[in-house]
Amino acid sequence: MSWRESRLAHRLGLTVPIVQGPFGGGLSSPVLAATVSNSGGLGSFGAHQLTPDQIGRVAEEIRALTDGPFALNLWVGDRDPEGDHLTDRALEWLRPYCQELGLEMPKTPERYGQLFEEQIPALLEASPAVFSFVYGIPSRQILEECRNREIFTLGTATSEKEAVALEQAGVDAVVATGLEAGGHRVSFLEKAENCLMGSMSLIPRVVDRVTIPVIAAGGIADGRGIVAAMALGADAVQIGTAFLACHESAAPQVHREALFSEQAATTVLTRAFTGRLARGLANRLSREQPPLAYPAQAWITGYLKRAAILQGRTDLMSLWAGQSAPLIRHHNAADLITSLRQEVDKAYSAIRPIQVN
Ligand SMILES: Cc1cc2nc3c(=O)[nH]c(=O)nc-3n(C[C@H](O)[C@H](O)[C@H](O)COP(=O)(O)O)c2cc1C
Repeated sequence: MSWRESRLAHRLGLTVPIVQGPFGGGLSSPVLAATVSNSGGLGSFGAHQLTPDQIGRVAEEIRALTDGPFALNLWVGDRDPEGDHLTDRALEWLRPYCQELGLEMPKTPERYGQLFEEQIPALLEASPAVFSFVYGIPSRQILEECRNREIFTLGTATSEKEAVALEQAGVDAVVATGLEAGGHRVSFLEKAENCLMGSMSLIPRVVDRVTIPVIAAGGIADGRGIVAAMALGADAVQIGTAFLACHESAAPQVHREALFSEQAATTVLTRAFTGRLARGLANRLSREQPPLAYPAQAWITGYLKRAAILQGRTDLMSLWAGQSAPLIRHHNAADLITSLRQEVDKAYSAIRPIQVN
């Protein structure tokens, strides 16, 4: 059987079992999602920072560019305790950075970030082929509503315990994400620091515990990574950083350039940017102790980021990236998919199936 005929590919009508990982933080784009879906994979859009109206508009924009299936992604756990408070200590932390960037101190918003429960009706209304989510499990009612609307559900696990919980709740497939992955460490049963398993261990451990399809994420940037993940039992793969580096993503140019530079050699897991543990390129801000919890910390560093991008100050902005960033070669999403497909086709034709008792 060809690697392309995976359960996920069959269920969603994909010609390659490759998912473009969703990006929060304004880095997803309808063009990227549609390009991947038009190339036979599953494009995704990270919508956790969008208002309900914006979610509907993004779905329309993607549909105008592709007839293929796509995923919309939300964060179930949308705030941490104390994540809604801007303290005096945080303002003191922020002041020197504002001075350095020539910025006024920000006015505090009425609310930090969006609420999952307000976003979900808009997502259901938009009815994407796939609803993918992180930081928890939606309620039984929401999952049932997805089934009624034939929306395929895709939960994310950083441990086998989380994968089992997702399967038991009735989620259709699980993304097993290793610590190599770029972006947030999306643990929900335990502290993220206690769920730092690499893909080489996590994939087979999850595969051995669940019967739903397992999609491997974290550290996959070329055909070798796909072959390895599938040899470990994954049904499909989800790739983030390599798509983020393509010109179709909404990552600022300075971020994409950094992914192709020597700076890409060193990534760190840090709470500095958002208050939650996440992987990005090491820089000055990544070494800070965050004064606030999520989402307030994300809001204050987001305020700095807008000015930092304009001034080319990559030391004062998040530069999300996974550990395999130095393996990236493509600037164009369709070329990336073609090259992944060819590399894996070649490897699979050379592999003889191994018989085990
Ligand atoms: C900038 C960035 C933002 C991300 N935001 C989200 C998100 O909002 N939701 C989500 O499910 N995954 C998110 N991820 C994870 C990716 O979708 C994907 O699983 C991960 O990047 C795979 O690992 P890799 O970067 O090693 O390819 C993000 C990753 C990056 C790099």
